[in-house]
Amino acid sequence: MSSQSPRDINASRDIEAPVIAKASDTASDITNAKKLFIKTYGCQMNVYDSERMADVLSPIGYTAVDTPEDADLVVLNTCHIREKAAEKVYSELGRVRKMKEAKEAEGRGEMTVAVAGCVAQAEGEEIMRRAPVVDMVLGPQTYHKLPEMVAKVARAQGEVLETEFDTLEKFDGLPTSRDPKGFSAFLTIQEGCDKFCTFCVVPYTRGAEVSRSVDQIIAEARDLAKKGVREITLIGQNVNAYEADAPDGSGKWGLGALIRHVALIGGIDRIRFTTSHPRDMDDDLIKTLGDEPKLMPYLHLPIQAGSNKVLRAMNRGHTYAEYKELIAKIRAARPDIALSGDFIVGFPGETDADFEDTMKCVEEIGYGSSFSFKYSVRPGTPGATMPRQVDENVKSERLKRLQDLLYRQQTEFNHSLIGRTLNVLVEGVGRDGGQLFGRSPYLQGTHFDGDESLIGTIVPVTITGAGRNSLTGELA
Ligand code: SAH
Ligand code: SF4
Ligand code: F3S
Repeated sequence: MSSQSPRDINASRDIEAPVIAKASDTASDITNAKKLFIKTYGCQMNVYDSERMADVLSPIGYTAVDTPEDADLVVLNTCHIREKAAEKVYSELGRVRKMKEAKEAEGRGEMTVAVAGCVAQAEGEEIMRRAPVVDMVLGPQTYHKLPEMVAKVARAQGEVLETEFDTLEKFDGLPTSRDPKGFSAFLTIQEGCDKFCTFCVVPYTRGAEVSRSVDQIIAEARDLAKKGVREITLIGQNVNAYEADAPDGSGKWGLGALIRHVALIGGIDRIRFTTSHPRDMDDDLIKTLGDEPKLMPYLHLPIQAGSNKVLRAMNRGHTYAEYKELIAKIRAARPDIALSGDFIVGFPGETDADFEDTMKCVEEIGYGSSFSFKYSVRPGTPGATMPRQVDENVKSERLKRLQDLLYRQQTEFNHSLIGRTLNVLVEGVGRDGGQLFGRSPYLQGTHFDGDESLIGTIVPVTITGAGRNSLTGELA
């Protein structure tokens, strides 16, 4: 859930044929092909949502482009998780304003500017006030209404602010058909969070935990498989809190049962899920991890901190010993599993000794990859007003020490794969051309020589080299 690098969703369509379509609520509204630019910040949930915004806008004539300059509609899909993430929006809006002014001054048409995602949900009205360039603010549960909102702005009915919270209505309102961008796709099965960790904004920006219906998820997975997708990552803020009615009326399904049914879909060869909360890792899911060969041997299971005192203050709902026990159970079920985690240093009240507990946790558990952050005060969360906030310099020192250890573990893990043959899902040609690029079962980017006809297939690659972030190999 943690990559903060902006990702541009660019549905590269080769032809730009004019699309004639009707805006959803004005039958006489005929539009020409329009250009849509979406910039995505934050977690996988936003990556998924950005793709779905493109899907919902496609029938009314919008085609995704990969630069904002000429776009008719610019959407910033934002993240509120840390202060830096949220502040990025305002600097980006400054740049967008200049582009909009240039476009309109040069007679290249108008540009509608929308802010979506978690900043929109958290500070919609402030955005409208601080950035008059913004025409539309839309929270994460309102994307199915985008065509209606775009039409409203076009009719010059002023700014539009939509921050309602009806997750199921959102999914019911999105088209069932998707336009996947490659061979690996995210599929949201659960949204929202009821855990209320004291540092976190997600329960406020995404609302309560809601699970999509099994039928809806299976239909979407089948549609993706039909379009060539080989790998599906089931996503949610707490994906293992998934619970929905069994389609045959036999009770409730958790994530384990859902995975076993997605695995029955022909063409889907790899399944992943993220992000899991330690409290919701039930025995059925652990057993599924052991038994289902399509499930990849990689688990993101954040602990955040190793000290019981800090875990309690964070309201994580478990101790370090319970986490360790859980990991032992998971490793017994799936011995080849690699773990990934999230860590926060400098939570209010964290002493040197507490921090050493986090170091000890990392030493003892051993992580194949990780994301680690300095605690960032989020207005409105309980952590913001806790006493004994930690000095920024202390946070920086702790983060440096923790990352030295985590990065060393990651490099060692990657090195341990040299000589082994791993199945790689070939996604395309590497950035520097020539070599093919794909993902190993452990998600490392893997480069190797091969024919482009292999793109979209899963091939065995013998690993010959490893760095901190990627592998190189030869076709086996
Ligand atoms: N639901 C997931 C996490 C979602 S947020 C879970 O419970 O694990 C992704 C990560 O961002 C968190 O795991 C946490 O490490 C980090 N994070 C969240 N709020 C933060 C804050 N206020 N300061 C620093 N890091 C934070
Ligand atoms: Fe945030 Fe905690 Fe919910 Fe994860 S479980 S989204 S960290 S409140
Ligand atoms: Fe960020 Fe919202 Fe995801 S705050 S991490 S985009 S749920």
